[in-house]
Amino acid sequence: MTSGASSPPGEVGQQRSGGGFATRLLAAQGLVLVAGALTTWLVAFIVGPSIFHDHLSQAGVPHTDTETRHIEEAFASALLISLGVALLAAAAAALAVSWYLSRRVQRSLGQVTDAAGQIASGHYTARVHSPGLGSEFASLADTYNSLAQRLASTETTRRRMLADLAHEMRTPLATVNAHLEAIEDGVRDLDPETLSVLRESTRRLGRLAEDIGAVSRAEEGNLDLQLRTVDAASLASMATAAAADRYAAKGVVLHCEARPVGSLTVDSARISQILDNLLANALRHTPSSGQVTLACRRVDRWVEYSVTDTGEGIAAEHLPHLFDRFYRVDTARDRNHGGSGIGLAIAKALAEAHGGGISATSPGPAHGTTFTLRLPG
Ligand SMILES: Nc1ncnc2c1ncn2[C@@H]1O[C@H](COP(=O)(O)OP(=O)(O)O)[C@@H](O)[C@H]1O
Ligand SMILES: [Mg+2]
Repeated sequence: MTSGASSPPGEVGQQRSGGGFATRLLAAQGLVLVAGALTTWLVAFIVGPSIFHDHLSQAGVPHTDTETRHIEEAFASALLISLGVALLAAAAAALAVSWYLSRRVQRSLGQVTDAAGQIASGHYTARVHSPGLGSEFASLADTYNSLAQRLASTETTRRRMLADLAHEMRTPLATVNAHLEAIEDGVRDLDPETLSVLRESTRRLGRLAEDIGAVSRAEEGNLDLQLRTVDAASLASMATAAAADRYAAKGVVLHCEARPVGSLTVDSARISQILDNLLANALRHTPSSGQVTLACRRVDRWVEYSVTDTGEGIAAEHLPHLFDRFYRVDTARDRNHGGSGIGLAIAKALAEAHGGGISATSPGPAHGTTFTLRLPG
């Protein structure tokens, strides 16, 4: 009955049983027709002649017994013959309509099965067309199509992520390889400079692994948030305090505008992680003597943190992609700055896990950037 363990997924349904849906539908319709015809026939046969007999005797027309019997027999046979013919014609018409309908349903389900089989074998561009059999079938087709679309986009993301990952790993691995070969060939000594190049490459690989892990966990919603009620403004002050030394070292002024705005129920470590990330980015992209402001305000039922810098700004065409994994505006330069291009993707996933969001605006290159984190408060 059921298919063997090695059959491809598309064949499972076809092998499952002998009778297809159309045959079963037709058999069920046939059964209903036979039952209907028999009932009609029996009722007409039992009730019809006796009613006719009553009417005949009530009419009071004098007849001999033979005449009456003959009239009654004539009525019974006329009734049964016409009923028989009518039932046969009705049965033929009903079976023809059922046959047509069941064929259509069978064909449409066949298309859904084909498309599902194609999707199962990795052809995510396959689409199910609405069979025109009513809203239930149309919504089945829609559901299949959105499933296929979803799988297609997951697959594209997976491929892009693997390609990006390979690309990101290539540079530090090539650096480590080249340096080790140079040491083996005696062209280079294992001096402090070489060691620091090697260490920087392994550090970069380590951070990449960490970031990938973090973004995967966050995007899968696998975060296990430790929600607590905290003062919203104090998260901003803490992030400012944590970044103060790095800002002072580069000569960038860091302001914190955090008036009391009430409390938030969040995983404070995760929110601090987002704010640290935004402040690190702002510092990286703002030259010495520039300014960065971390502000915290309430807008309706949201608490908004904004990080505004007076740095290099971002051209409009890059803004929609900033939160994609591995996206960097200036790939070569940003990589040398040490970023793996995942920080904002992590920030976005963390913000969304809290039911909030994150966005970026910039008046353009050289005019600074503002990142805004919104959390339901
Ligand atoms: N404050 C900012 N000013 C200008 N560009 C920025 C700023 N913050 C982020 N970016 C751009 O967005 C890109 C993605 O940021 P992010 O995901 O944190 O990656 P990373 O910092 O590792 O490069 C950065 O490479 C940079 O090009
Ligand atoms: Mg970053």
